[in-house]
Amino acid sequence: MWYFRSPRVFAFGEGALDYLKEIEGHRAFVVTDNTIVKLGFLDLVMEKLKESGKEVAYFDGVTPEPPEDVVYESLKIAQKFNPDLIIGLGGGSVLDVAKVTQVLFEHPDLPMLEIMPLTPITIKKTTLIAIPTTSGTGSDATASAVITNSKENYKMELNHPVLIPYVSILDPVLTKSLPPKVIASSGMDALAQAIDGYTVQWRNDFSNGLAIHSTRMIFEYLPRVYENPEDSEAREKLHNAATISGLAWSNSFLGITHSFGHAMGAVFKIPHGITVGIVLPYSIEYAMKTHSNLYGELARAVGAADSSDDDKTATIKLRNKVVKIMKEMEVPRSLKEYGISKEKFDKNFDDLVRLTSESAVNIFNCREPTTEDMERFWHYMYEGKSIDF
Ligand SMILES: [Fe+2]
Repeated sequence: MWYFRSPRVFAFGEGALDYLKEIEGHRAFVVTDNTIVKLGFLDLVMEKLKESGKEVAYFDGVTPEPPEDVVYESLKIAQKFNPDLIIGLGGGSVLDVAKVTQVLFEHPDLPMLEIMPLTPITIKKTTLIAIPTTSGTGSDATASAVITNSKENYKMELNHPVLIPYVSILDPVLTKSLPPKVIASSGMDALAQAIDGYTVQWRNDFSNGLAIHSTRMIFEYLPRVYENPEDSEAREKLHNAATISGLAWSNSFLGITHSFGHAMGAVFKIPHGITVGIVLPYSIEYAMKTHSNLYGELARAVGAADSSDDDKTATIKLRNKVVKIMKEMEVPRSLKEYGISKEKFDKNFDDLVRLTSESAVNIFNCREPTTEDMERFWHYMYEGKSIDF
């Protein structure tokens, strides 16, 4: 038996924020961050909520790659306010904090690390609404949340069906002011997730179509948005594509872009999208030896390769297309290029390998890496050398 899980409603396109007026509820607690407040988006959302007679409270203290403390701060305010609606308004970090706040609001004694598939958890008092303001993580459609364990300096990959928001609101007006670096970083996350979603061991009939379509859309619209953020058609399409990518991988899973990426992010404090972007071309090269059939199939389906190309040729073309987009958006291709010194890399090497091997996602990758492979992979990714093993 298999499952396909998704939010109950997606409200998308221009004006989608108006859906907030239709949602039943009396007390809305908004989780967000400082940038969103400054951009005026919190006011915009609160206005819509108040127009439909709802009481509103908010927490605006989410930080990037959020640690547990931030979740507990958010929880404290939620407990005081006692909401029946919890709304995440922001990028992936904000949405993840909102998701975990909801679970802990309903189960205050649950240790965060127990938000895992086999733990029985039910949600009874609140409805979760996700409003992404970046086009990347697709967290508004997924059963996952990533919270940094600051004591042990690693990223907790929480996963449970209750983390899927009830409603996802995709209003492109919210992505109008994104700086190019954020467009690139979040776009690379969406792309890595879409490609992983198609090639992992748990790929299935339901997720495959979504993974193909989101990959195709990201290839088409990410460079357009990066080039011209005023291109409203491209912005709307990219916003939808990121969520479709989330929907795909949440129902199949992620591969080694995210085990290496999470380790890189925890150790060197590099933004998530850049980390998985750096890994992506190497993860495609690594899979070539055993699974070029999957990448070749995807490459042909999204138009990155010709229908007459064999699997290996098509896989190389897919990888080249990814690299081309990275170069256009000035995303570094190696740790060295990112500016990590060899000394710093060597000093942290054991931690990088340990954190990578401890990630839950390796086992889903089409070619499951051994520890020895991980060690070599890190060296190649530091230098910017194509994987040949
Ligand atoms: Fe990601």
